[in-house]
This record gives sequence, structure tokens and C-alpha cells, in this order.
Amino acid sequence: MPMCGITGFIGNNAAANALEGLRTLEYRGYDSAGIAFATKEGRIKVVKTVGDVSALDKKLAAEDMSASNFAIAHTRWATHGGVSDANAHPHTDCTGKVAVVHNGIIENFQALRSELTSRGHNFSSETDSEVIGHLIEENLRTMGFVDAALAAFRRLEGSYAILAAYEGSPDALVAAKNQSPLVLSAGDGFAAAASDPVPLAKCSKEGLFLEDGDFAIIKKGSLEVLDLRTGKKVGRKPIVFGTGSVFSDKQEYPHFMLKEIYEAPAAIRLAAMQEPAALEKAARLVRENRVVFVACGTSRHASLVGRYLFNRIGGKFCEVVVASEFPYIAKNIVDDDLLVIAVSQSGETADVIEGVKIAKARGAKVLAITNVVGSSLDRISDCALHLNCGPEIGVAATKTFVAQLSLLYLLASTVVGKKDDEKRKLDEVSRILENSLPGWDAVGRKLSQRLAKEPAAYFIARGPNFPTALEGALKFKEITYIHAEGMAAGELKHGTLALISKGTPVIAICPNDYTHAETISNVMETAARGAFVIGCSDEPNSAFDELIAVPKVEEHHFPLVFSIPLQFLAYHTAVLRKNNPDRPRNLAKSVTVK
Ligand code: F6R
Repeated sequence: MPMCGITGFIGNNAAANALEGLRTLEYRGYDSAGIAFATKEGRIKVVKTVGDVSALDKKLAAEDMSASNFAIAHTRWATHGGVSDANAHPHTDCTGKVAVVHNGIIENFQALRSELTSRGHNFSSETDSEVIGHLIEENLRTMGFVDAALAAFRRLEGSYAILAAYEGSPDALVAAKNQSPLVLSAGDGFAAAASDPVPLAKCSKEGLFLEDGDFAIIKKGSLEVLDLRTGKKVGRKPIVFGTGSVFSDKQEYPHFMLKEIYEAPAAIRLAAMQEPAALEKAARLVRENRVVFVACGTSRHASLVGRYLFNRIGGKFCEVVVASEFPYIAKNIVDDDLLVIAVSQSGETADVIEGVKIAKARGAKVLAITNVVGSSLDRISDCALHLNCGPEIGVAATKTFVAQLSLLYLLASTVVGKKDDEKRKLDEVSRILENSLPGWDAVGRKLSQRLAKEPAAYFIARGPNFPTALEGALKFKEITYIHAEGMAAGELKHGTLALISKGTPVIAICPNDYTHAETISNVMETAARGAFVIGCSDEPNSAFDELIAVPKVEEHHFPLVFSIPLQFLAYHTAVLRKNNPDRPRNLAKSVTVK
């Protein structure tokens, strides 16, 4: 049921390997964690707990896992069913001989559960996932494990990446995929499976990315992929894992988020290193088609900046649609002269993938902008541009937002034949930012003292920085848990001004450009009601109570520049409030459910 991370390993030290992999998947969820492994007696042992993988490690301290020759493990982000030990995965059948981990949602679980209950099965969780083990259990009465799992998985409707183990079949794990990601690899004496390539990249250079409708038999040194419906073999070509598959550590930083904010200048330069042919192809698609961006959250904010860039640099009007809303309007706008630009850091966001599938089915072309080579989005798009900025571990997107903007600058400029010029400018901006980071870090820390006690904060801007205000507010609220709103400065007087009173923090993103005079007027309106105004600008102004100074850059580069001090502001405020900015409550990095 949940949107989660799963790993599986078959070979020596399977439990330790599955657990090690699981640690790198915690960005997908960290409500609870669990593992099923083979004991030296050849039984399946399940250990699971509320909390993250370190909580699971504690619970496993007394267990002897050294003889485990297979294991499956899971880290959960709850959607249906509360966060409890019972709802944590793996789930077993009535006999405890079958164990299952699942990422996705089994939509017909209620019908399956009543059917199984009526035949005497006992359920020990509230999850949809538990039906899978019981279905396999029934089939095992008349067939072997592989056939029993095939028949069970055929009954499932919804989204899933599943790994299942059976103590009567210690040489094989089985897997199935529909909509949720699953990658497999095999080598000398082992085979492994995981929700993304990162856990696998340590022991393999390449892997098989399962496609929707695939069923796999995972054995030491061999992988076999079948069509789930027909049971016939399908060929899946191995894909070399990208450099982004190498797991990074925090180095000297207290949090990944801080490290990743400091990686912004490098992210700009890396995103600008695009393969010329792919960039030209993408630019041609933009020139020749109507364009709509489809994205969620921070990636949507980057897309909104992209809309301004396409407009002001490329002279092209385009729309940005929230991915989860796209299906409701697609009917009237999608046909074969439309280019959907799907922006998704993870390349796995279910809402984006669904939008892309709808667009493709109606003949539209799809350009993906993603950080993850080999992700679902990467594979289903007609053309893909990669952010190339390395894995982002902090749940709140920081360097990938900067990389998305950089790529959009480059794309908009390529559309009008100015790619090389923009590449040079981006390099300059990245050098300027390098010098600004320590100062923004310090001012963010100072202002956090003031903001940490506030019940709300308002972020305002105009033009291409309006999305920067939206993004500043999103970053702030998601890790500080303080209510925050971002809005077009001109909208304040249409309602939100009613919430501004003495001391209310207003963060005014206010470059000295063509939007300056009008934004300052809006700032004055808030100041007149007693707002505490933090101006974020390349130009001091007496209307600001505090200033976050930014360097003067070309007007269209301001969104890139402003995003970074706002990330520091959110980071320090979260830390002061004793929140873990890398793992905001209720959120996860890769949102693979709708
Ligand atoms: C916020 C954040 C999210 C993501 C959103 C889309 O900091 O990271 O809003 O931007 O969940 O994720 P991707 O880009 O992976 O599609």
C-alpha cells in the first residue's frame, strides 16, 4: 500500500546486504521499516518496527542473520493504514512461510480481503499489501512458488513493485512491477532488487529496469523476466547505472540539505553540460509544438519560471499544469502538436507519469527533465535532458531546483540559437554564487532567530520571481512546519493583506528590475500594517527591516539567485525549531502514489 522503498537480496549475507541497501532508500519513506530473512534453520524470520532503519537495526541487534541466504526489506511511507508495527512490511501469509514487501496501492484489496477472509485467512494488519501473501499461500496448495506467485499477482489491480520470498523455495525470490519502480541486478553468487539503482550500484554497473506488466524470477547469478499475463519470456536490456547512482555521504555537514544547498554552483555547471544533440532535439520540439509543462511541487515552481523564460527569451507562450490535475483537462488540450515537458527530479512521481501516459496515448510528444537516468519518466519519454547534479538525499529539493532552472535557461536560449552565450553566463553566475553562499548562510541563521517563533510567513514577488516566492514558501513550510504562503505581490490586496498585522513576517523578493517599483509599493502596503519586512534584493530600501543582499545579475537569472538564500532561511529556521530538515514529517522524496 505505501509509497516506499524495497530491497531484496539472494546470496551470502543476504540480510545485511538488503539492510544496507534499505538505508539508501529512506528518502522514499521512513515511517517504519522491516525485513524478512532466512534463518540458519531455513525458516523465514520477520522483524519490523515503527521508525527508520536505525530503529530496525536496534531491534535486529539480538538476531543472528549471518546464515541468511535470502532477504527482502522495506521502508515505509504510510498512505492507507496508520503507522504501526503491524502495518509495517514485510507481511506474511497465515503460515508465516511466505513474506512480501510492496510499494504501491492494491486498489481491489477490499474485495480480495473479504474473499480471503471468507475462506478462513487471518489478517494481522490494516494494509492492502497483506492480501498478496495470502493469495500466494492459497496457490501453493496446488502449485510451485513461481506459479503460485504469478497466479496471485495476476489478481492484483493497482500499482505495485513487489518482492516475495517463500521458505520452501530458498533459491528464488519473485518480483512484479506495475507503475511502481523496480530494478534488478545479478552477479557472481548473488542477485539483488531495489526501488532504485542506488543500492545496486555498489555491486553492479548495470541492471534490468522492469517494465509495467513484468514478472521476474531472481536467482543467484541469474534474472529471468516474464510477461505477467502470458507467462512468456520477455527480453529486457540491461541499462548502465548513471553517476547519480553513487550514494553520497554528508561529509562534514550536519545535514544533507545544507550540503546540497552548498552544491548549487556545481549543480548549475553540471546541468549546463548537456549533450548537444539532445539539447538541439529538445529545442526543436519546443519550436515546433505547443508546449505545456506538467510537474508537481518544487518541479512545478521550476516549470513556472520556465514559462517566463520561454516567454521572455523564446517569445513562446506556454502553460504549466499541476500534474495531478492534468488528467482532468487533458482531453481538450492534448493532441499531436503538443509537447509535454515533464519536469521531475526523481522521474518517478506517479502524477507526472500518469500525465505523460495520457499525453502519449493522445499523440503528444514528451520531453523529460529529470535527475535520475533510467527512471520511469526517463524511459517513457521521447527525449530526455538530465540534471546531472548527483543524487539529492534531503527530502526538500534544493540543488535540483537550481539545476532545473539552469537547464531551462539553457533550453530557452537554445530555442533562439543562443546556447553558447547562455552557457557562458551560467558559468559566470555559478562563480558569483560561490562567493555569496557563506554570507547567505550567516544571514539565514540570524533571521531564523526572528522567524522560528512566528505562526506564519508570507513570500511575495512579481514576474519571473513570483514562482521563487512560491518556492520560498514551500521550502519554508515543509521543513519548519510554520504556515507559509507565496504569492504574486499584486495579489496581496485581493485578500491576503487582511492577515498582515504588527510583526507579521513578509519576505519580499525584490530585484532592481522592471518589477521593482511595483513590488516596493506592495511592500509599503504591508509595512503600513506593521509587517516585519525582510527584503531580498540587489538594492537596499528603507522599506526593508532587514536585507538579504544578493549580487546584481542579469534580470532573468534572479530566480536562480534568490532561491538559494531562501533555502538557507528555511534550513536554519527548521534546525532552530529542532526539526530534521532532511526528513520532514509526513513527506518523502519520491512520491510514487497518486
Ligand atoms: C519539495 C519537493 C517536492 C517535489 C515534488 C515533485 O521540496 O521536493 O515538492 O518537488 O514531490 O517531485 P519530483 O520532482 O521528483 O517529481
